[in-house]
This record gives sequence, C-alpha cells and structure tokens, in this order.
Amino acid sequence: MQNFMFLKPNCFINDAAFDWLYPEKVQQHSKRHWTPLGIAKTAARFLAYAPGKKILDIGSGVGKFCLVGARHYPEAYFYGVEQRNDLHQYAQDVKAATNIHNAFFIQGNFTQINFSEYDGFYFYNAFFENLTDQDHIDHTVEYSASIYHYYCRYMFKQLENCASGTRLVTFHSLEDEVPPCFQLVDASNDLMLKMWIRR
Ligand SMILES: C[S@@+](CC[C@H](N)C(=O)[O-])C[C@H]1O[C@@H](n2cnc3c(N)ncnc32)[C@H](O)[C@@H]1O
Repeated sequence: MQNFMFLKPNCFINDAAFDWLYPEKVQQHSKRHWTPLGIAKTAARFLAYAPGKKILDIGSGVGKFCLVGARHYPEAYFYGVEQRNDLHQYAQDVKAATNIHNAFFIQGNFTQINFSEYDGFYFYNAFFENLTDQDHIDHTVEYSASIYHYYCRYMFKQLENCASGTRLVTFHSLEDEVPPCFQLVDASNDLMLKMWIRR
C-alpha cells in the first residue's frame, strides 16, 4: 500500500503516475490487465454521453477504468464489480486517496448484478483468463473453458434484455458476449476498442 501522504498532485496525467498509487505487485499487472488511461478516457466519453448516466465495469479489477472515467466525467456514475476481494479493496483505497465521489465498487461476481439498473457497460475481456495458461492475476479462482462459455452466455443474455439505446464498450473482446442486437458504431484503428449501441 502506498503512502498517500505523498500523493502526486496529478496522478491522472499518465499510466505510470496512476499505477504508482497501487502496491508494486498490482503495478506489475498493469500492462496486461488494467485499462490504459487513454483507452479509459475514450471509453468513458462514449458511455457518459449525458449527465446522470450509470455505467458498470464488468470485472473492474483495481478500479482503473472507473476512477479515470469518474474523474473526467463527474456528472456520470461509474460502478465496478470485481470478484477478487483484494483487488476490490485496492480500488476502494485509491478512490479514497483520489477523492473521487462518483465511482462505486461492488465485491462479487457479475452474475449477481441487475443489468437493467445501468445505461452502459465497459468490458475489458474479463473472462479471457479462463482460456489462457499465461499471465494469470493469481490462483484464487478456478479457470476453465466451460466457465468462460458460461460467463459469455450469461452476459450475452443480460445484454439482450437491456433497453434500446444501452451502450457498450468492449476492449480486446472476442465478442462471444455481444448479442447481434448491439450495433457497432465506432472502433479504434486497431479494432481492439469497440463502441456499440443496442438497437
Ligand atoms: C482484464 S481485468 C480488467 C480490469 C478493469 N476492468 C480495467 O479495465 O482496468 C478483468 C477483471 O475481471 C475480473 N473478473 C473476471 N471474471 C469475473 C466475474 N465473473 N465477476 C467479477 N469479476 C470478474 C478479474 O478478476 C479481473 O480483475
């Protein structure tokens, strides 16, 4: 845990400054597992398109997307659900240290969430850890291809039931969780970041 008495005045200036807010073992996962600042800002701009919008990060990790989005869009509400308790706690700590009031963190599995309460969703391929043997965050959860397919099917159904106009941003997604009623409206040049709107 960093000593927040020495908090840098603008820790939102670049990834290194922001990641510094976390313990070293969390910083080491940043390149592979946490959303880069520029991507978070672009995704948040699309999702927080009007005041009061409620946005959920499905698998929020240490809260990077939510905290960056909340800082840049103070009139929107950013929620994150994270299955790992230690990561959830780091998100809460950095929320307090950065004095962000419009980001909220829920500890649990995304299958416990009522999707109809949100106007938009951010998804940085949270389920992919089930398909690979490399770069796991830790060994506190069970990994399997069948869990990957279960989560994708579950999310697909929840998104299908969302209201018309619901927004979705995917980052590095294989799109197994995106139902065809979501129309692609924008994407980054490398096609890793995609913006969707439910018809
Ligand atoms: C690639 S990281 C992205 C973290 C964060 N969204 C960000 O962009 O900085 C994916 C996160 O999803 C979490 N996760 C995976 N499956 C989950 C589930 N079923 N429910 C809640 N969280 C989940 C993992 O623990 C991990 O922290």
